[in-house]
Amino acid sequence: PPGTSLDPAGRLMVGGCAVADVAAEYGTPAYVLDEGALRARARQYREVFESLHSRSMVLFAAKSFPSAAIIGAIAEEGCGTDTAAEGELRLTLAGGQHPSRVVSHGNAKTDADIRSAIDAGIRYIVVDNADDVRRIARWATAPVPVLLRVIPELNARTHAAMMTGHSDSKFGVPAAAVPAMIAAIAREPMLELRGLHVHIGSQLTDLEQFESAVEAIARFGRFDVYDLGGGLGVRYVSRDVVPSVEEYAERLVGAAHRHLGHDIELLVEPGRSMVAQNMLTCYRVVTVKRAERVHVAVDGGMGDSLEVSLYGQEFAPSIIDRSGPTEIADIVGRHCESGDYLAHDVPVPAAEVGDLVTVPVTGAYCYTMANNFNGALRPPVVFCRDGRTRLAVRRETFDDLLRREQFVGVRP
Ligand code: LLP
Repeated sequence: PPGTSLDPAGRLMVGGCAVADVAAEYGTPAYVLDEGALRARARQYREVFESLHSRSMVLFAAKSFPSAAIIGAIAEEGCGTDTAAEGELRLTLAGGQHPSRVVSHGNAKTDADIRSAIDAGIRYIVVDNADDVRRIARWATAPVPVLLRVIPELNARTHAAMMTGHSDSKFGVPAAAVPAMIAAIAREPMLELRGLHVHIGSQLTDLEQFESAVEAIARFGRFDVYDLGGGLGVRYVSRDVVPSVEEYAERLVGAAHRHLGHDIELLVEPGRSMVAQNMLTCYRVVTVKRAERVHVAVDGGMGDSLEVSLYGQEFAPSIIDRSGPTEIADIVGRHCESGDYLAHDVPVPAAEVGDLVTVPVTGAYCYTMANNFNGALRPPVVFCRDGRTRLAVRRETFDDLLRREQFVGVRP
């Protein structure tokens, strides 16, 4: 898997740490991060964009990994942050990010989302609808710099898993309504329209779609700022072919120069392609059932990784630190649902109880969507770097689970 290596004894290593040692120290399941690789990726993203366009800023989409430690590490490498609600903004500021490097989104921003963004003094609030305009005007004490999210009206292509740029999307202003919305913002003294925002979807591997989106928004007039969203895909399994950050940046910046201008401020919001490939999730095998199929069941599943059951996302798990004859197995979770799979039909060495299973490329949207299905405790996040580990987020405890309960109707 990316970012991993084997030590002389054949043990799987991340950031100079044996995964087996991390599992022994912090327990399983655990999210294990190669911190050096994450920082290098953030630097690479920033440097590539800055080299092609000096007025550019790479904003990490906090929704893909909303932890102060992760956001903070990426911020230290010079990236800004894209937040989508007050909670993400709080995590971002707790991670040490400067408000002037934060942009905030949301198709249904609450008063609290808007007030917290205004109070923090973030760089831009992205207006999604007329109610945003009204709410921002209501809470502003000085003109608030805003961007307007427009729908480029591009149709989904089959390989695009999650599209948000189609005409009936719940995100942003439909193309036909954009001129009126621009006029409405111009009439509002407490809003200062600085530019446009567009985001067409996630896990996209066709660079032409990004170019089309840039071309599509050029028709709304000339602005100083353009935020072109995120969406670059990552390689989950060996047959995935994805563009490099360099290729993506060249095509995107090229299109921006052609259609939007050369002296613009250019923002991008990568989430998945910033964090996915630098993390693996480590589980322990709880039981193995060899019947019609081989089921290798682990101590986690859709409680810590919803991607498979929600999107059919493919992963390539392995049984680590074990060799020997292989078999075709389904790697399943411990939750009470048939869809609770980590992967189907993977060739793995015949597993035994206590073996470690790693699922690589889980850095994006797995931690975010972790939940307490079956009372499962959300796993810790462990940073590995230069042979040393640091606990970035501790494992949830049963006390955490019980803490919110008010025991209504329960006899003490
Ligand atoms: N900007 C905006 C406005 C977004 O809505 C998103 C993702 C991004 C940036 C970052 O996109 P990325 O570079 O990560 O593709 N829950 C789904 C993914 C949802 C993506 C939501 N928006 C999943 O688990 O795959």
